[in-house]
Amino acid sequence: MQEKPDNFTAVIFGASSDLAARKLYPSLYELADWGHLPLDYRILGVGRAALSHEEFRSQVQEKLLTFSLGTVLDEARLKAFCSRLFYVKLDFSDSEGYKDLYNELMAVTPDTGLCEHILFYLATPPDLAPVIVRNLDAGGLGGKKESCGGWRKIIVEKPYGRNLETARELNAVIGAVFSEDRIFRIDHYLGKEPVQNIMVFRFSNGIFEPLWTRNYIANVEITIAEDFGIRDRGAFYEKAGLLRDILQNHALQLLAAVAMEPPVDLSADSVRDEKDKVLRSIRPFTVDTAEESVVLGQYEGYRAEKNVAPDSTVETFAAVKFYIDNWRWKEVPFFVKAGKNLSETVTRIVITFKCPPQNYFGPAESCSYTANQVILSIQPEETIALRFGAKRPGEAVITDPVYMKFDYKTSFTEAGMTPYHRLLLDAIFGDQMNFIRQDSVEHSWAIVDAIREVVNGTQPELYPIHSHGPESAVRIYS
Ligand code: BG6
Repeated sequence: MQEKPDNFTAVIFGASSDLAARKLYPSLYELADWGHLPLDYRILGVGRAALSHEEFRSQVQEKLLTFSLGTVLDEARLKAFCSRLFYVKLDFSDSEGYKDLYNELMAVTPDTGLCEHILFYLATPPDLAPVIVRNLDAGGLGGKKESCGGWRKIIVEKPYGRNLETARELNAVIGAVFSEDRIFRIDHYLGKEPVQNIMVFRFSNGIFEPLWTRNYIANVEITIAEDFGIRDRGAFYEKAGLLRDILQNHALQLLAAVAMEPPVDLSADSVRDEKDKVLRSIRPFTVDTAEESVVLGQYEGYRAEKNVAPDSTVETFAAVKFYIDNWRWKEVPFFVKAGKNLSETVTRIVITFKCPPQNYFGPAESCSYTANQVILSIQPEETIALRFGAKRPGEAVITDPVYMKFDYKTSFTEAGMTPYHRLLLDAIFGDQMNFIRQDSVEHSWAIVDAIREVVNGTQPELYPIHSHGPESAVRIYS
């Protein structure tokens, strides 16, 4: 990890985007307020709208007042923050326009000029990434041409490509302009406290890891459910679908964190090596096993959403059974279920252990009622629960499931950082551990491409809004 730099400019492409308004400006404001940003910092918004610096400042101020993450916005500090904001109008595909960006960067950083540390943030639709990166390079702003000690880095939002082929192309384009240690492929799930805690929970406690194998674990369930639909993202969803939007990144990253081997050390690459090995060990999907391994769904009413085709076959739900063909996990099913407009909003990982060899306290099949589970709740609850059987008070010996629970809220009083706080800081400090490496992006796409291929032509099954998803999703549990 690098030292805290003494100067820093964030260049935000997509300055008027929802992401910038909801996540980036509030996070940068708070990081500055908490003293985490270099003292000499600037934020340069880049967008298609014609705005003066002043207009941009008042727009951002308005967004901060709407979306600030519970921070009391002090007027003086807000003013100080806004005085660090600048704006440049740019048509992203017009290479000539990047001269203006170059000149503006020189103008707003008069002391440091291009010795400045610069973090480019692509808060733009994913298909614009290649043209922006090529033009940055042509405009003399590429990451490999730094001078006088200033670094240039780039944060790219997901989805990173739309399949293996386009991800490779994107990797080639970006890799020609920025070196891998300067490319930060963001998956905001990796900035969530309970997600970062998965590795700590597994490898800082001696009692769980010896049991964390096929010898003791019956199955693992990963759920990413939302009780709302695609909101106003019809155009995006029609191109992406749930497999690309959530499974390729968030779900596979959770799976890798649960299944990885202990890393050699805590360097970013050691940790990412182990996660990548999990992705490479996933059993290939075949047409023969497709029916029992993959169920796709679409919520009723999806086709009536804005910017959605009336005959769309895009999935808003997926239930997928994975097997990891390695020494630790062979034949342990990993059930992954993710969807929009389901009955609840929850992200949770349930590790269910095998039953004891002899069930003294009921019929053999009753064991699953009290089977031991480790339940890692990522959100909205941030808890870890251990489920076990206990004797119900009374004459008869009847076992009931009971829980031991750790809750972040009651065990810690420290104010938490949001994923964007954390990941922005990590990028500034050069810590890659919670960003996706090129090989893992490609391996995740290979998995999603294979899933898409085996279900090719299958219509997603309709499911009612606020239900548990398509009825046939139970198929994968057989
Ligand atoms: C985004 C997806 O990456 O993650 C959205 O594009 C999804 O579709 C969101 O709603 C979920 O993030 P979180 O942090 O709210 O669970």
